[in-house]
Amino acid sequence: MSYDTEYLQVESSEDEFVILKALLETPNEFVSGSLLAEQLGVSRPAVWGKLEKLREQGFEFEAVRNRGYRITKEPEVLHPALVRYYAEKANTPIDLLYFPVIDSTNSEAERQISFGRRSPFAIASSCQTKGRGRLGREWHSASAENLYLSVLFEPNIPPQQLQHFTLWAGIYICRALQNFVTKAPLKIKWPNDLHCDGRKFAGMLTEAKMDADTMRSIVFGIGININSNPTSYPDEIRKIATSLYAVEGEELSLSRVAASVLQAIVSAYNACIQNQTTESLPEAWAPLSSLSGKPVTALCGEKTIQGIASGIDDSGALLLKGADGSIQKVRAGDVTLKK
Ligand code: BTN
Repeated sequence: MSYDTEYLQVESSEDEFVILKALLETPNEFVSGSLLAEQLGVSRPAVWGKLEKLREQGFEFEAVRNRGYRITKEPEVLHPALVRYYAEKANTPIDLLYFPVIDSTNSEAERQISFGRRSPFAIASSCQTKGRGRLGREWHSASAENLYLSVLFEPNIPPQQLQHFTLWAGIYICRALQNFVTKAPLKIKWPNDLHCDGRKFAGMLTEAKMDADTMRSIVFGIGININSNPTSYPDEIRKIATSLYAVEGEELSLSRVAASVLQAIVSAYNACIQNQTTESLPEAWAPLSSLSGKPVTALCGEKTIQGIASGIDDSGALLLKGADGSIQKVRAGDVTLKK
């Protein structure tokens, strides 16, 4: 089977993963060179060579004679073996393909499935040349300090079972990212945006392939501004976008964030297909909503609806309360805060 794509994929070797796993499992202890050599089935000089390669990729190690090695620094950039390690640690083993540059991770996921790759799998990238957003918009994806990630599943079930998947994924991801951010609450702007301090830092795009009454494949894509500085954003988004770095004032580990987001996506998917969401959608959504209690305008095709955002219902529709107290439901559309 050939999985040839025109883009360069950076693969990390199984040996690198074995070394990182051995060292990260006991972060404060030294792991002897002979133990690593035994686990890899290679000589101790060969272990040294592999550590040198990891050093070139941004890892730093402390080496002490008669004790061994320990990791003193992980690279800030996305490292596929590191993502795999943290994802597996969070009980989310998933096939991850990393492309430093790609047109769109959602498009690559579709290509990979057409080449015959088995699902589920994830595509991660540091730069998209044709990142796409909702409603045919472009998703600015130039910065290597951000994360562009897609996960493809083949559910083969009626689509109704996954109709709330994107909303649940937003909830799970928002909660997961909050573990990395202490300075401000992270919120969801209905339906698919993540916000902080009134600015957008992430967007989600779900694309599905249907066949009669069956959802054959679903690609969940997310772009997250992580370590980029908003001053570098294009004029048209600088005032409305932010990054986790701008909020927290500190850079985050792209690999740890990617692993945590992967875990959130897979958990949300599993909860939806197994019908095991233990909370109700409106209750889970309420504390995370960026719009609640605020006056908003919803553009639904030709129609404009105004009202005070009052949460979502079980179907995921946004509820807008009019001046007369009546509730209007917005099932799809674009929502903006009224000035
Ligand atoms: C939006 O807010 O309009 C949704 C943006 C979704 C962007 C992500 S980045 C990873 C994946 N690949 C794409 O081309 N788009 C999604």
